[in-house]
Amino acid sequence: MQPLRGRRLLLGITGGIAAYKAAELARLLVKDGAEVQVVMTRAAEAFIGTMTLQAITGRPVREALFDAQHEAAMGHIELARWAELVIVAPATADFLAHAAAGMAHDLLSTLCLATTAPLVVAPAMNQAMWRHAATQANVALLQSRGVSLLGPDEGAQACGDVGPGRMLEPVEIQRAVRARFADGRLSGRKVLLTAGPTREALDPVRFLGNRSSGKMGFALATALVAEGASVTLVAGPVSLPTPAGVERIDVESALQMREAVFTSVPGTAIFIACAAVADFRPAAAAEQKIKKTSETLALELIRNPDILSEVAALPQRPFCVGFAAETDDVEAYAQAKLRAKRLDMIAANRVGASRGFEVDDNALLVIWEGGQQSLPTQPKSRLAAQLVNLIVDRFDAQTAAENT
Ligand code: PMT
Repeated sequence: MQPLRGRRLLLGITGGIAAYKAAELARLLVKDGAEVQVVMTRAAEAFIGTMTLQAITGRPVREALFDAQHEAAMGHIELARWAELVIVAPATADFLAHAAAGMAHDLLSTLCLATTAPLVVAPAMNQAMWRHAATQANVALLQSRGVSLLGPDEGAQACGDVGPGRMLEPVEIQRAVRARFADGRLSGRKVLLTAGPTREALDPVRFLGNRSSGKMGFALATALVAEGASVTLVAGPVSLPTPAGVERIDVESALQMREAVFTSVPGTAIFIACAAVADFRPAAAAEQKIKKTSETLALELIRNPDILSEVAALPQRPFCVGFAAETDDVEAYAQAKLRAKRLDMIAANRVGASRGFEVDDNALLVIWEGGQQSLPTQPKSRLAAQLVNLIVDRFDAQTAAENT
């Protein structure tokens, strides 16, 4: 069996002690039938020789950005286009920093910038370097742009330290690469997702809004694409890049979000409402900027439609997943929303006091009829992947029950 037969993989190797493991990774990928083109940084060459990798892959290793001989055969832009997947293993702290900054100072960083292929990185570094705020910020930025992270592992390190920062074993990276090319659990399924806040206009320059950054919803979009779903993301005003492979519809107000959702819902298998939709909007938005003519200002607000409840009430309804943002009694309120909105599943989070909204980490209590599961505090990217797994489990179980 050759699960990667004919796949074009670009293997980037950067300069860390774990570089020696890249030879084994290249061997496993070649054994799986992949065409593997190795690109090494200068620092990587201090740890492993190009001859070894050339012998394993059957292709000359590429190192230099400006190499007349190689550019004549396959230039760096062609190489960037050739790759179906870019794997950087090991990925040093330095490489992650350059990639996050979008720098193109050598062949590997240039390829990462020039390619439209997904980028997968397997970090390897000293545990203090991995834990450093700069590295964590770089990793979070890369993940928010759709870069996938494999590891790192925890354990004894070459420098004598113990902690996170070891590169995953080549066989684990091979497994992850195989999984990317296998059919996802949501292949052929359409998933509609809302994310971010809504803004309800008071006048031409002011609005009522909330603190949702869109991070949770955008992380879900990325996790859904990784499962092969065709994802439509209806996003309120946020400053996040569109995850790779996602169709995005930008809206401002709850009414616009409702319209975009109802335009997109036909054919949807799963609807996930992660947006923090304003429950009320000003009864009328002033046409001109409101002036300070008195000491107090009374606003009349009217209820916005509940988009999630309306979708769940459709005769041909998708599998409906809601969120519940609660400051107290999280489980009780979430249970009540699950029933009142007739949902298939609800993901409840505690919000307020630097929780839930805006922050990078979150925790969820996921509830469905007859079961629940707590997902502990962790980066929203990882949490999203776990939530998607739970959603697909329930969705598959419900689909199977309906078909019997
Ligand atoms: O965006 P981040 O900064 O990453 O923060 C993430 C989050 C905290 C916003 C997210 O995890 C979350 O909890 N989203 C739902 C917020 C919310 O509005 O919860 P709610 O309990 O008020 O609403 C319940 C459900 O009804 C939600 O699925 C909501 O999308 C939906 N709803 C609410 C009102 C409305 N008019 N229409 C709706 O569809």
